[in-house]
Amino acid sequence: MAGNWKMNKTILEATNFTKALKNSTNDVTDVDILIFPPFTALYAVNNEIKNSNINMGAQNIFWELKGAFTGEISPLMIKDIGCSYVLIGHSERRQYFGETNETVNKKIKIAMEVGLIPIVCIGETLKERKDNNTFNTIEKQVKECLMGLSTEQATSLVVAYEPVWAIGTGKTATPEQAQEVHSFIRKVYKKIYNSAADKIRILYGGSVNPNNVSELMNQSDIDGGLVGGASLEMESFEKLVKYLK
Ligand code: 13P
Repeated sequence: MAGNWKMNKTILEATNFTKALKNSTNDVTDVDILIFPPFTALYAVNNEIKNSNINMGAQNIFWELKGAFTGEISPLMIKDIGCSYVLIGHSERRQYFGETNETVNKKIKIAMEVGLIPIVCIGETLKERKDNNTFNTIEKQVKECLMGLSTEQATSLVVAYEPVWAIGTGKTATPEQAQEVHSFIRKVYKKIYNSAADKIRILYGGSVNPNNVSELMNQSDIDGGLVGGASLEMESFEKLVKYLK
């Protein structure tokens, strides 16, 4: 269960949240817990999660290791600060910051080069869904984002299906809609990587909350959640980690 905090929380807020999360989830052994604080809080959060079952990731990286790229953050820096995961190609980055399947592909490769596990975000817009282009869009995203990866690399990353129309809107995909796309992603994987299709983890994201989490997680091809809004409050995130209403 992954919490994407987006551009929220000061260092103090992030630290307090992480302390509380550690206390309330120290008995959880069957769910991997992952948080994505903003860059500025990574160092402090890393100090809190030592000796816990909480993992940490960054929300973005640049596709080079170092150099004259003012304002960007290297995958090496993210690794150095304690991250094991990185979100790549979130729809907000595609929408506001010009991220494309091509830049996502470069970022996945460099992330893997330094040993970070990429969580690769894909998903259709409302227009694409209405025009019956969901599956075309998803297939194109999987193929272009993962282009040139070995089967081993494709197996070790995590895919997050986040329909753009469900993000931050309160409109969750129904469990059936989500399952349909998750199963399709596995089919596309099967065609390219064969056995990797059964092994990769596919997370669902888009208005996941304590009321819909268990139904979504019960779907056979949904392996976890990537949560925005409901990951910001302890009460709801704890429930999500434990699949409680
Ligand atoms: P919401 O859970 O707020 O819809 O956000 C989903 C998301 O974008 C997670 O990356």
